[in-house]
Amino acid sequence: MSRLLIKNAKALVGTHPAGTALLRGADMGVLPTIADAWLLAEDGRIQAFGGMDTWPGITDWNDLEVIDATDRFVLPGWCDPHTHTVFAAPREGEFVDRIRGLSYQEIAARGGGILNSARRLRAMDEDTLFAQARARLEGMMHQGTVAVEIKSGYGLDLESELKMLRVVKRLKEALPLQVKATLLAAHAVPEEFKDRREAYVDLIVDGLIPRVAREGLADFVDAFCETDYFTVAEMARILEAGAAHGLKGKVHVNQFTAIGGIAAAAERGALSVDHLEVLEDADLAALAGTGTIPTLLPSCSFFLRIPYAPARRLLEAGLPVALATDLNPGTTPSGNMNLVLSLACIQLRLLPEEAVNAATLNAAAAMDLATELGSIAPGKRASLLITKPVPSLAYLPYAFGNDHLDTVIIDGKPVRNGEATA
Ligand code: NIG
Ligand code: FE
Repeated sequence: MSRLLIKNAKALVGTHPAGTALLRGADMGVLPTIADAWLLAEDGRIQAFGGMDTWPGITDWNDLEVIDATDRFVLPGWCDPHTHTVFAAPREGEFVDRIRGLSYQEIAARGGGILNSARRLRAMDEDTLFAQARARLEGMMHQGTVAVEIKSGYGLDLESELKMLRVVKRLKEALPLQVKATLLAAHAVPEEFKDRREAYVDLIVDGLIPRVAREGLADFVDAFCETDYFTVAEMARILEAGAAHGLKGKVHVNQFTAIGGIAAAAERGALSVDHLEVLEDADLAALAGTGTIPTLLPSCSFFLRIPYAPARRLLEAGLPVALATDLNPGTTPSGNMNLVLSLACIQLRLLPEEAVNAATLNAAAAMDLATELGSIAPGKRASLLITKPVPSLAYLPYAFGNDHLDTVIIDGKPVRNGEATA
């Protein structure tokens, strides 16, 4: 049995009552903490924790790793419920084109964008894709990410989409963090289907979804519901086919235009609606009373210089908010959740407590992992962050661009050692 004991923590953060699975509206401002605390993990799971005045009488010190977290905060690891971590090549040329004045849509219309990434991905073998994505994920774990959702969507044909999802499966097996897979074949209409888009949606609905479900290659299904990409009706068809095969929806909606995707997704029980940079009152109303989680991607707004999603309006409407990086070569070449936390506070105007909840418990919920991760609760995975000595929790998003993490623990084992584990 492997055991880990953290002692003298300045505070354990995110000690929500057991069973708390999703925080909405004003509840997102509540981030329970225990000051001057200890935590015991056994076999990768949180066993018990409390204030140092309730120090557990440890009698068996064999196989017990002890970490002294004096002056350091202990948080649940970051969960990143929206990424495109598997891709073949960066697109910094498009970045320079945007500095010169072209928009994301203009670059896509010239054959750049997602279709550019698809050409490169189709040409790359599975092992190389795997090695590159693995290195990216290792970097993200170092930055505190303990769970990640990864989408396909740069294959855009049967074989290449399956290739991407096989890479995701191998990542899941090779690395200790939790990995969820999403089929995003409806990311763009591929060149060869340009004049018969319905046939491409048929291929997704009749070919890919049943095959992927049968082979256990995906947990979720996604579609880029957007002007010039996929219509609301096409996304609805894909969500319904996914649901019929046990794949919940997690969709790209309202990034550039509001075309009714949010209502259609919420009506079909989507787990999350992601982006929401453009949000109309009808979209907000459509989310009321549903279980669909708005998932915001502020690094994408930062990089593309597009509006930020109206996070405060969502909270004022009593809705939950989750955060994710959107790591991808076109709109967000960063998988750093610490930066997302800062942008959430600076640009979305979330309070630090709201942002931490959005990047942990609600982010876990946005990939169906809230019973496993996202808070410090007995029985959950001991996937935790230990900070450097910092004056307060608000200091983490405040001193943006700096690395405040010391140790990253996944399932009770350090994957990044720092001073606390030296
Ligand atoms: O989430 N918006 C659609 N998909 C990605 C961008 C993909 C790309 O440009 O390669 C996103 O921002
Ligand atoms: Fe995305």
